[in-house]
Amino acid sequence: MKSKTAIYPGSFDPITHGHLDIIERAAKIFDRVIVCVMYNSAKKYLFSLEERAALIRECVEPYKNVEVDCFDGLLVEYAQQQESNIIVKGLRAFLDFEYEFQMALTNKHLDNDIETFFMVTNNKHSYISSSLVKELVKLKGEVSDFIPHNVEEAMQKKFEEGCI
Ligand code: PNS
Repeated sequence: MKSKTAIYPGSFDPITHGHLDIIERAAKIFDRVIVCVMYNSAKKYLFSLEERAALIRECVEPYKNVEVDCFDGLLVEYAQQQESNIIVKGLRAFLDFEYEFQMALTNKHLDNDIETFFMVTNNKHSYISSSLVKELVKLKGEVSDFIPHNVEEAMQKKFEEGCI
């Protein structure tokens, strides 16, 4: 059987335990998972593309079939470059659905071979978002349940630099 590479795209600004849960589960299903750090034109970022990717690389060390990459362009172009037609997305609550559905259909319109697979987030992580984490760090709230330690340190540094 042909080996299956899945692309897990996102902003990951920063990566949370919710994202990592999806990565861990996707890595058990697909032969190879590429976490692709991208730009969402609707968002303002705290971390650069490279900074976001470096933090994720540290977190996914234990998973031997997971790679991390960055791409500043269309997701379908990236998937074509990687010779993959599989996109994995995490779905939190009802809030995500409309937006994710629209993106999946747009990607399908751009490349009919693309298939988007939605994975339902673990109930434990269903309400976590990167923006919620940023708000908590700004207001000195406890974030250790939501983000890995290296990410917490990087966010603390951004806070000390006055970026948050
Ligand atoms: O974590 P996010 O912000 O919800 O991820 C959205 C992301 C980055 C996956 C999306 O904006 C994207 O695919 N950006 C790359 C540019 C692109 O292909 N845009 C068209 C998507 S329909």
